[in-house]
Amino acid sequence: MKLVKLIANLGYGSRKQVALMFREGRITDPAGEVLYADDAVAHANVRVDGEPLDPPQGLLLMLHKPVGYTCSTKDPGRVVYDLLPPRFRLRDPVLSTVGRLDRDTSGLLLMTDDGALLHRITSPKSHLPKVYEATLASDLRGDEAAVFGSGTLMLESEKTPLAPAGFEALGPRRARITLVEGRYHQIRRMFAAVGNHVETLHRHTLGGLGLADLPAGQWRLLDETDRATLFTNPV
Ligand code: URA
Repeated sequence: MKLVKLIANLGYGSRKQVALMFREGRITDPAGEVLYADDAVAHANVRVDGEPLDPPQGLLLMLHKPVGYTCSTKDPGRVVYDLLPPRFRLRDPVLSTVGRLDRDTSGLLLMTDDGALLHRITSPKSHLPKVYEATLASDLRGDEAAVFGSGTLMLESEKTPLAPAGFEALGPRRARITLVEGRYHQIRRMFAAVGNHVETLHRHTLGGLGLADLPAGQWRLLDETDRATLFTNPV
């Protein structure tokens, strides 16, 4: 791919703007030698204003989503893209969230510009478990494990029952839930179906990946080892 297109696709500017950056000598190699738009140079050897280029197409990142941010590009309020470098929002192909977390849900969110990878992660065939912890407004009833694990729970306006979900009580009003699918507001609606209300919800893991010590609001790129870890925990 031509350098101008490559750099424009990473969100640095339109092709016209990037062509101007070349003319201004802002695009260089690691030694500071000015590059030209037609040069054939590896991604790793391009600098913009002395800084390495953003990661190439095929990026996968993990974000510790805080409460209060939506998984959208258009919401007038705070969106998860506000937590990333501004250029990431302008990338082509687009950087999408892998599934969604509600505005009031915190925890592990993946984002990628790789459509095939996104599909592989979210496909029910991958059976990647997602583990959440919820705090509840009322005490658990005692039948949640049976109801959620039954494979017959029908939520309002759904056409098929939920797949069996894992449930573990962690206290009178705290529980760990493991899902292998992702329906709209699924956990909140599951607890509503057993007469309860979710007060806080946090996603701890997706497949074999956890947040480890990544602070809320922070993100990190995932490498090949992380990708392998992601797919190591199918149920
Ligand atoms: N279930 C929900 O209700 N919300 C989420 O964000 C994820 C799962």
